Amino acid sequence: MLHKLQVRLPAEATDRSYDILIGTGLLDQAGLEIATRFGPRKIVVISDSHVAPLYLERLHAALKTAGHTLLQPAIMPAGEPHKTLPTLQQLAETVLQQQPDRRLLVLALGGGVVGDMAGMLAALLLRGVDYIQIPTTLLAQVDSSVGGKTGLDTPQGKNLLGAFHQPRLVLADLDLLRSLPARHWRSGFAEIVKYGLINQADFFTWCHAHGPKLLAGDAELLTSAIARSCASKAAIVAADEKESGQRALLNLGHTFGHALEAASGFGENLYHGEAVAIGCALALRFSIALGLCPASELDRYLALCAACELPTTPQLPASMVPTLLDFMSGDKKNSDGAITLILLRGIGQAFVQKGVSRQQLATFWHEVLANPSTRNAC
Ligand SMILES: NC(=O)c1ccc[n+]([C@@H]2O[C@H](COP(=O)([O-])OP(=O)(O)OC[C@H]3O[C@@H](n4cnc5c(N)ncnc54)[C@H](O)[C@@H]3O)[C@@H](O)[C@H]2O)c1
Ligand SMILES: [Zn+2]
Repeated sequence: MLHKLQVRLPAEATDRSYDILIGTGLLDQAGLEIATRFGPRKIVVISDSHVAPLYLERLHAALKTAGHTLLQPAIMPAGEPHKTLPTLQQLAETVLQQQPDRRLLVLALGGGVVGDMAGMLAALLLRGVDYIQIPTTLLAQVDSSVGGKTGLDTPQGKNLLGAFHQPRLVLADLDLLRSLPARHWRSGFAEIVKYGLINQADFFTWCHAHGPKLLAGDAELLTSAIARSCASKAAIVAADEKESGQRALLNLGHTFGHALEAASGFGENLYHGEAVAIGCALALRFSIALGLCPASELDRYLALCAACELPTTPQLPASMVPTLLDFMSGDKKNSDGAITLILLRGIGQAFVQKGVSRQQLATFWHEVLANPSTRNAC
């Protein structure tokens, strides 16, 4: 079964709206789906060292059969530690050595890291060329491939260099998830739960009821969850593409989470989705500590996370508090020296809280790191 959604965006020089296709067999259909929409194109595939050996040959065959011309692919080392400027430079040089023109189409084949890097590359190459996403992780299929945020990490923090550059098409092929390690499935599931927490209490309940079976690979549940997540994100992005308001809600769990990721060194210790799962628990704890949210809402969240084996407690020593605060102070949502957080009045009721002071957060972090698994912080 094929699901088709559309991200509707205001037209600029051209119509920038695009389709998200969710289903099986899409990798082998990619050439045709692209040719039907955009004609035969010159294409360069960007992928990573885990994904390319699994799927690149099949994708190239599908593209060639549909009449596209292929450049040599640009393959980056896998993983978050490589979402950096030096890697971007290497990818750019591989492409530029092949003398591309503005009709070049960049095709991202990989998880969120490849998607963010390929998107940024497409935004910069020749001042902007088209790109298409073929997300290969659950996280990328439900979140990062949609919405046009691209970026990379620097020592100062996560995604601090980037551009808004929307893809022209997203092909989410469920078959590709079969090779994804279980820990990455759970990491992606954390971003699915996030949509329920933000503004869909019924979807949160659905995630609690079906999470374990979905994570065991149930195709029907998986399709529903991906379609619902993409529809949520598409609606928010359509309303606020460049994050002047409502789109900031999608950062629920991310200000805490990004600080944890950065403080953990962007490595194997803590994946992005895991950091988001912990970050959502902390957003709930902070909201409760401010008297904004009933404590029972955290219990509901913790119960879901326990059932789905998602982490909820940070594992860092108290000596890391200044580092965490520095990373939070550098977040893109902040203004005038005060920190902006996404907090919750309850499950399904996220809101933007501006003006949180560094001192308030310092007290909170000290309490959290001293008592990682209790909610009586602040
Ligand atoms: N742009 C956005 O809107 C947005 C939204 C959410 C997250 N992100 C970014 O996404 C990144 C996280 O994405 P991720 O979790 O997909 O990480 P990832 O891209 O690093 O992929 C996780 C790991 O799985 C491997 N892999 C990917 N697909 C596979 C497959 N089908 N089979 C086997 N192995 C596979 C990858 O090589 C990597 O080792 C973070 O950098 C985060 O900041 C961006
Ligand atoms: Zn995220």
